[in-house]
Amino acid sequence: MSAEKTRDGFSSTLLALMVALGSAVGLGNIWKFPYMTGTGGGGAFLVIYLFFVFCVALPIMISEFTIGRRSRKNAVASFKVLTGNPHTPWALTGFIGVLSSYLIMFFYSCVAGWVYCYTFKAATGAFAGITKDSAGAMFMAAIGAGGAGQPFFSKIVLAPVFWHILVLVVIGTIISLGVAKGIEKAVQVMMPALFALLIICAVRALTLPGAGAGLRFLFHVDFSQVTPAVVLSAMGLAFFKLSLAMGVMITYGSYFTSDADLTSSPLKIAVADICVSMLAGLAIFPTVFSFGVEPGAGPGLLFITIPLIFSQMPFGQILLFAFFLLTAFAANGAMLSLVEVPTIWLSEEFNISRKKAALINCVLIGAVGVLSAGSADATGYFGGFKFLGRGFFDLFDFLSSNLLMPIGGFFIAVFAGYVMKKQDLAAELSNNGTLNNESRVNFIRILLRYVTPLLVLVILLNGLGIIKF
Ligand code: PFF
Repeated sequence: MSAEKTRDGFSSTLLALMVALGSAVGLGNIWKFPYMTGTGGGGAFLVIYLFFVFCVALPIMISEFTIGRRSRKNAVASFKVLTGNPHTPWALTGFIGVLSSYLIMFFYSCVAGWVYCYTFKAATGAFAGITKDSAGAMFMAAIGAGGAGQPFFSKIVLAPVFWHILVLVVIGTIISLGVAKGIEKAVQVMMPALFALLIICAVRALTLPGAGAGLRFLFHVDFSQVTPAVVLSAMGLAFFKLSLAMGVMITYGSYFTSDADLTSSPLKIAVADICVSMLAGLAIFPTVFSFGVEPGAGPGLLFITIPLIFSQMPFGQILLFAFFLLTAFAANGAMLSLVEVPTIWLSEEFNISRKKAALINCVLIGAVGVLSAGSADATGYFGGFKFLGRGFFDLFDFLSSNLLMPIGGFFIAVFAGYVMKKQDLAAELSNNGTLNNESRVNFIRILLRYVTPLLVLVILLNGLGIIKF
């Protein structure tokens, strides 16, 4: 029996696309992308982001899908299969992906936990009548601020740990059911619901008086706001948004159907992901501006400003629930992809069942994630521990986003552009000649050899502070 028949995988190209989109869509769409667009020159930022999506992200995603589907293996073994050498140093590229996915999960799961907590709070009407101060205090309690010096088994320390563990129980259960019966089924329910809830929130926001200022924030075109730092952040965002260099797209590529077009699928994913970010922006900024509040980015926007403002609107409690539920769905899709990478790796490399591998990973992420849960704020239980000048929470983010992601991305592009034989790349991207896309494949290979690695090197050196613009 061929590996393709015995191995779990996606049931159709459409579902494969939906699951890969489920990984791309995440917290980044809600607290990073719209705000970075608004402050980075609006339409001008979008043009720059699209440039990097085209020249960096798409070639890397195409390479990852190619490496995955051609080998039908996990992120590490795929390099061994494609080089025909079980001891190839290229397997390190896969290891970098597995390691980065762990690092991201160590903090992403905590943030997903805060989202779960807020979804629950919204469902129970906890935001009714909140003020600026009480919204801030609520957030501080949710992230375990003030836990330093308290006993570990106290409510303030354990509250974020509880929600972080709950996320892992949900994700671990779905992952242990498998690719087709678990991940695919969950995403099939979550993605359409996410779109529907997002459209409802955006329509409500756009019909508020004074919504136009939010639209101007998001869509004005101002190239004078585009600084070198903005350009570099657009590149980094493209990596994070499209879940690249984490082993995710190699792993998902290994489940793709044989007839999926690997050259056009990444483009569809990137466009749909931008649409989700724009819809999120349309749900958030018209509301924020309509209430005359300064927009901010990151946790403050999602966990303080949004509850504060939404709760002042008619039907605000229901909208808040809808908003946090869709954010929880977005975080789940991203978490599923992250947990799947080390699960299939452990399962295939150490010959253990998927369930056991999922359990081992969830216990590991659960345990190490406690360090993040206690260090999201400097006054948290573990807030006093610093490495490279950062607490655990920030350290995991820094190491994965600034270091491992660009290193992994660079080597993936070099592997597909230089190490893989041209005819192998062409065979995989043309589905063994059936797609008749020779010139497109040649163009992708030129990008992979001469453009993508150079641009990624720039992100890496800048992220490390070696070059500054
Ligand atoms: N793309 C996700 C987001 O925008 O929130 C985050 C993410 C998921 C990054 C999976 C990396 C990854 F492998």
